[in-house]
Amino acid sequence: MIGTDLNLARKHLERGALVAIPTETVYGLAGNALNPESLAEIFRVKERPSFDPLIMHFASADELCPFVQVLPEAFWPLYRRFCPGPLTFVLQKKPAVPDLLTAGQATVAVRFPAHPLSRELLQSLAFPLAAPSANKFGRVSPVRAEHVADQLGEEIPYILDGGPCSVGLESTIIDLSEGQPEILRLGGLPIEELENALGHPIRRKPHSSSNPKAPGMLSAHYSPGLPLLFGHLAENLPKVNRRRCGSITFCQALPGIPQAQQRILSPRGDLNEAATGLFTALRSLAALPAVEVILAEAFPEEGLGRAINDRLRRASVR
Ligand code: TXA
Ligand code: MG
Repeated sequence: MIGTDLNLARKHLERGALVAIPTETVYGLAGNALNPESLAEIFRVKERPSFDPLIMHFASADELCPFVQVLPEAFWPLYRRFCPGPLTFVLQKKPAVPDLLTAGQATVAVRFPAHPLSRELLQSLAFPLAAPSANKFGRVSPVRAEHVADQLGEEIPYILDGGPCSVGLESTIIDLSEGQPEILRLGGLPIEELENALGHPIRRKPHSSSNPKAPGMLSAHYSPGLPLLFGHLAENLPKVNRRRCGSITFCQALPGIPQAQQRILSPRGDLNEAATGLFTALRSLAALPAVEVILAEAFPEEGLGRAINDRLRRASVR
């Protein structure tokens, strides 16, 4: 069922059931982060391998104390500037965090979502929420309540509808658990803004399918269910039958591809606007019977363009 009843959402969560919740990044598949049965249900419904840890969601940093060790110096300037918002911190955990949630690691990922409905929900609950993106493992994340209903509607009792997600990309993940901060996942908060706040460049962990620090950052992810060609249009356009092709571009239309099969993410050239529309574009193109392949151009490598390219690159890996 889809609705906007916060009380009903709260009741389901309190009895251990799962509820899809809106956040500013993407919809989350939420359950009680301290209840092993709820956590097991998240892994089951999402068909997620148990080695891939979940993010704990809180209303504010005041609630962190039982779950994380001493907060590192870099935490507070970032928290004050960007939270609530699209940023996830990896920190040393305390024993109160269930092993199932962290996949047995010594660290835990925590985040403070900005969407008013999820904030109100978190404030009304006596426990934090574990919430991966509300899609089947390896698929495109949902940015509207209907996207969740398409994939998980039969399996969860309630989807809290908060409208379309304003950011449209998952949170940026920064690892503060060791000496130097490191970016584990590019996401809804541009790396430039983080570097600005800390006053120095931040290292980026390279993606790999065997990287134990970010088990979920597999090189093949975000699959729209169709082959996707990502990169320079001049190189890729000659490879496709344009009548059978769907396209994702930043601000330009492409000759020869039917208009209904083109998604121009921001005609005025705004990367934030492009990010908001990316996952909906992938889903809607994959749903068109005429489309057999998706062609996506490389976006400018700056601001949210980096995270857009990251998602498209991984959607193109088969
Ligand atoms: O924007 C978001 O972060 C969304 C919304 C719902 O909050 N959530 C989300 O969760 O994207 P999920 O589970 O789809 O992705 C979480 C990522 C995974 O790749 C996981 O491997 C990584 O966070 N992660 C979680 N705990 C970690 C840890 N202790 N160390 C390193 N990576 C961790
Ligand atoms: Mg995900």
